[in-house]
Amino acid sequence: MSRLIVISNRVSPPAEDGEASVGGLAMALSAALREYSGIWFGWSGRTVPEFTGQLSIERGAGVTVATVDLEEQDRDEYYNGYANRTLWPLFHYRIDLSAYERSFDQGYARVNARFADTVLPLVDPADFVWVHDYHLIPLGQELRRRGLKNRMGFFLHIHWPPRRLFATLPNHRELVQSLFDYDLVGFQTEDSLTAFQEYVVQSEGGVLHPDGTAEAFGRRIQLGSFPIGLDAEPFTAAANGESAAGWRERMRQSLAGRQMIMGVDRLDYSKGLEERFLAYEDYLRTTPEAQERVFLLQVATPSRGDVPAYQEIRARLDAVSGRINGAFATADWVPIRYVNRSYRRDELAGMYRAACIGLVTPLRDGMNLVAKEYVAAQDPTDPGVLVLSQFAGAAEQMGEALIVNPFSREEMSDAIRRGLSMSKAERVRRWESLMHGVQTQDVTAWRDAFVQALMHPPAVEAAEAT
Ligand code: ADP
Ligand code: F6P
Repeated sequence: MSRLIVISNRVSPPAEDGEASVGGLAMALSAALREYSGIWFGWSGRTVPEFTGQLSIERGAGVTVATVDLEEQDRDEYYNGYANRTLWPLFHYRIDLSAYERSFDQGYARVNARFADTVLPLVDPADFVWVHDYHLIPLGQELRRRGLKNRMGFFLHIHWPPRRLFATLPNHRELVQSLFDYDLVGFQTEDSLTAFQEYVVQSEGGVLHPDGTAEAFGRRIQLGSFPIGLDAEPFTAAANGESAAGWRERMRQSLAGRQMIMGVDRLDYSKGLEERFLAYEDYLRTTPEAQERVFLLQVATPSRGDVPAYQEIRARLDAVSGRINGAFATADWVPIRYVNRSYRRDELAGMYRAACIGLVTPLRDGMNLVAKEYVAAQDPTDPGVLVLSQFAGAAEQMGEALIVNPFSREEMSDAIRRGLSMSKAERVRRWESLMHGVQTQDVTAWRDAFVQALMHPPAVEAAEAT
């Protein structure tokens, strides 16, 4: 029987000594794999003095989780280096933060080769291989070099940048070429798909075919956009459950009649947290009657703390939130409750429901699942308002949110004002439409669409393969 072999940098649950694995990928994959028997392979999050390729295997219901330890140098050059100091900033339009160092290239190549060596013996000929995210772009090529013939797909969880920006990456051509060793390459949005297609055609002289395939580097592969969704039903059930109700009540008491605006993010410069704080400050300044009647709860879980840009954004957010609180707070009110920790799903669901506004304003984001979680957690009879960045992939699907430009303080401040005073009828109308999308375009629909496309190639490609 064919199985699904899922490969990602991290697997869930995270290693005990590692940073908590919050993030869209871990949330989506643990949900997506539930109904497939298969293997989920990735880094354990641990480092050892010397790489051995020794697998740790845990068999769960249907899914076997297999992990491998890496060396410290691997973590520094591959995870902290090429993945999070080169690709991540570049793909989020921050070439000012991108570091191009040959040791990072080497570490990235080395770890992808190590992943290939380690996972290869686990793959049977009939299995489908599904590789995830920017950490592992060349893994397919490494597997092909080792003779793997299976159908292989790759899904990018983050945004794909425009071609002129992408061209600032040394070896950009080799990276794209390695994607052509997969049979299917998927993106979060039409925008990312188009940017990739433009690169293939304009930089590489490739050809796009009407069946969705692209030809370049002597290969023809399938491309598509597969917007990732939420595991909506359990999340809504959690929001309706007892534990969430307890949290909602706890929040209501602490609100003391005030309106709550809420943000939940990994502590990442791409999430636009400083801009959000400044927009909220603008709102307080231009709406004096709102002072003491509203507050912002910002939950920001520390992430990638070894990378200097993350240390800097953390220090900036401490300073900016402190300054705003110092300037506006009164003896019994602080305008920003800024919390650097993570919460369980049921706790988050209860907090989302107590919030009048979900403020989701990344400067750039592949999708953003928090926007969908906020919607899924609302009370249908009295829902809150989603304020959403036009630069989150989710904005392609969630047009009924209040869509804002996160670079404009005034626009965000206006949206907060509008959201807090929106009539119940309008809130319900917008929420119903958003919720319909969250429920129908959920994580199962995403997984099934990708897996079906991987298993069933377009007719032309199938004919050519025979
Ligand atoms: P990214 O993948 O860039 O982190 P997403 O918005 O797509 O962004 O996914 C973030 C996921 O991590 C969501 O499921 C969100 O609930 C979860 N998350 C983020 N911050 C926290 C936190 N402080 N506590 C618990 N979960 C969190
Ligand atoms: O969704 C983007 C992503 O980078 C995932 O690949 C990743 O698991 C998540 O964000 C959290 O980041 P990290 O694994 O570096 O903590």
